[in-house]
Amino acid sequence: MRIQSVEELQTLHQNNQPLLALRRAEAYVGQERIIMVCGGTGCHSAQSKELKEALAEKIKEHNLEALVDVKATGCFGFCAEGPIIRVFPDDVFYVKVTPEDAEDIIVEHMKGGKPVERLLFTEPSINEKVPTMHDISFYKKQLRIALRNCGIIDPEEIDEYIAAEGYLALAKVFGMEPEAVTKLMTDSGLRGRGGAGFPTGMKWEATRRAAGDQKYIICNADEGDPGAFMDRSLLEGDPHSIIEAMAIAGYAIGADTGYVYIRAEYPLAIERLEIAIKQARERGLLGENILGSGFNFDVLIKYGAGAFVCGEETALMRSIEGMRGEPFNKTVFPSERGLWGKPTSTNNVETFANVPIIVNKGADWYNSIGTATSKGTKVFALGGKVSNVGLVEVPMGTTLRELVYDIGGGIPNDRALKAVQTGGPSGGCIPTEFLDTPIDYESLQSIGSMMGSGGMIVLDEDDCMVNIAKFYLEFTCEESCGKCTPCRIGTTRLLEMLEKITSGKGTLEDLDKLQELSEVVIDSSLCGLGKTAPNPIVSTIKYFRDEYEAHIVDQTCPAHVCKDLLQIVITDKCIGCTKCSRVCPVDAIEGSVKQLHVIDQETCIKCEACISACPVNAIIMQ
Ligand SMILES: Cc1cc2nc3c(=O)[nH]c(=O)nc-3n(C[C@H](O)[C@H](O)[C@H](O)COP(=O)(O)O)c2cc1C
Ligand code: SF4
Ligand code: SF4
Repeated sequence: MRIQSVEELQTLHQNNQPLLALRRAEAYVGQERIIMVCGGTGCHSAQSKELKEALAEKIKEHNLEALVDVKATGCFGFCAEGPIIRVFPDDVFYVKVTPEDAEDIIVEHMKGGKPVERLLFTEPSINEKVPTMHDISFYKKQLRIALRNCGIIDPEEIDEYIAAEGYLALAKVFGMEPEAVTKLMTDSGLRGRGGAGFPTGMKWEATRRAAGDQKYIICNADEGDPGAFMDRSLLEGDPHSIIEAMAIAGYAIGADTGYVYIRAEYPLAIERLEIAIKQARERGLLGENILGSGFNFDVLIKYGAGAFVCGEETALMRSIEGMRGEPFNKTVFPSERGLWGKPTSTNNVETFANVPIIVNKGADWYNSIGTATSKGTKVFALGGKVSNVGLVEVPMGTTLRELVYDIGGGIPNDRALKAVQTGGPSGGCIPTEFLDTPIDYESLQSIGSMMGSGGMIVLDEDDCMVNIAKFYLEFTCEESCGKCTPCRIGTTRLLEMLEKITSGKGTLEDLDKLQELSEVVIDSSLCGLGKTAPNPIVSTIKYFRDEYEAHIVDQTCPAHVCKDLLQIVITDKCIGCTKCSRVCPVDAIEGSVKQLHVIDQETCIKCEACISACPVNAIIMQ
């Protein structure tokens, strides 16, 4: 089982090609089919495992085992339409498939040769059913580099990864000097996808140069941003690519051990990673003398408990060491003194996912994608008020408009777009006037937001920007480790002021204080959590000051979100059915049968029970 040399790996790569043949053979006209069922967490929790089992059962029942196979694969990204399956070689893409659909798929498509029309996606731009992934506008502007194997290979089969050029990049670097490997990364222009965008080659080179016999590689899979699931999907869909990249980094800097720091709330990603590590060890692609190169490298998993601050690399290292996950001052860089005081290089999961393909295709290829300063692609978790919620990967330089409208399918329910929030709790809200800004590290920063790790929340006219700022502050305030005063006390005071404003008790002076204190927290906090926590406040005051003023001066919430500034009222659509008064828990509604009912505002606790109970929608919040 152990692969002894580079030559043996290359031979195995060739021998494994038939494993992926159907998935690459669009011109194939025979009867063989392979059904790839999405096994990402989203589809998994929507019964995709049961769907796969139902398909396998039907294949058996119809005696099709010799012709049809079914496998699980990584996330297709189109999570709003899950569970998703893709059939090769005819490349038919089915959405919202349930285990009950298995019979039709097997009988109509596998036996009858005709795709099941009702399970195809209806493309909104033409209002027609479309058969393949390539016909769907959600995918047209995407470029899947980091996600290249998700939706194609079975993440639990190392042989499929090897067929897809897996571990060939590791074999290739064994023919290079470590310095040449770090230079290759520098030339490619790859920058860290964990948030700060630090050049990967520069970090590797600094760690390579650092003195020390023992060095470490860390893969940061903490992924604490609310709503983000890029790294989880990569680990679930292509775990070997991360292991391979860590080994390449280990070779480049001279480390023999790598840690994956992953939150324990990611059980599926952990399971796939454990399987992949075991398989890589069995094949001799981890462990001693990998491929006869003399290079030793192994990967260990460390579980995080889900604290956002533990994603910060110095806190993460403390956590791995078994200490409290608190950041420390980077007077000496981790490349000099990191984990257990040894030179350490930490990269994000998505950063690592780009490494093997850069080694295989070259720096110039990667460098040719993206903008002048931001190369390659970026994976975003697109969410909020957008039709196509999911995981998307686009070349750097793609505009927000393309992401929201061409890929995201626009805003549902005919609502107007108000802003796009990027960068998670460290980021900012970008108003519509910047929709044509190309997305890259610098341009997002220049308009008051940041790339962050890839969370992207679309906000519409029904979102209150003060409330959004409050939401993120609640998060950072809760997640502050408390080590330094500006963050611990500063975020608390900022949150209190936001609460004052959203409850109608704020003053214009508070608005000035919010800005002043934000600056202090940004300037004086110890780590990135505190340094960026006020960003959602700063950007919303900058672009949506009128909303803050409406809360303070007019005592209204223009988006009708902040309950303390709203009243529940019964309009003259009321037919006097008394249903509302019967559900009101505090007897705030008065009125006789067939008479207009009235709410006593002093007594009402705004529970909204009456709104749901009213059969004629006569009760509104205003
Ligand atoms: C509060 C905080 C949380 C962070 N969380 C993450 C995280 O979950 N994943 C991540 O890769 N980087 C996170 N980072 C950034 C890391 O400190 C570090 O810069 C990154 O892992 C380096 O990898 P890269 O160069 O590949 O981006 C966080 C930073 C801060 C300040
Ligand atoms: S800035 Fe906040 S999270 Fe960072 S060290 Fe200080 S208290 Fe802890
Ligand atoms: S919102 Fe709740 S408390 Fe207020 S009137 Fe309606 S049912 Fe009663």
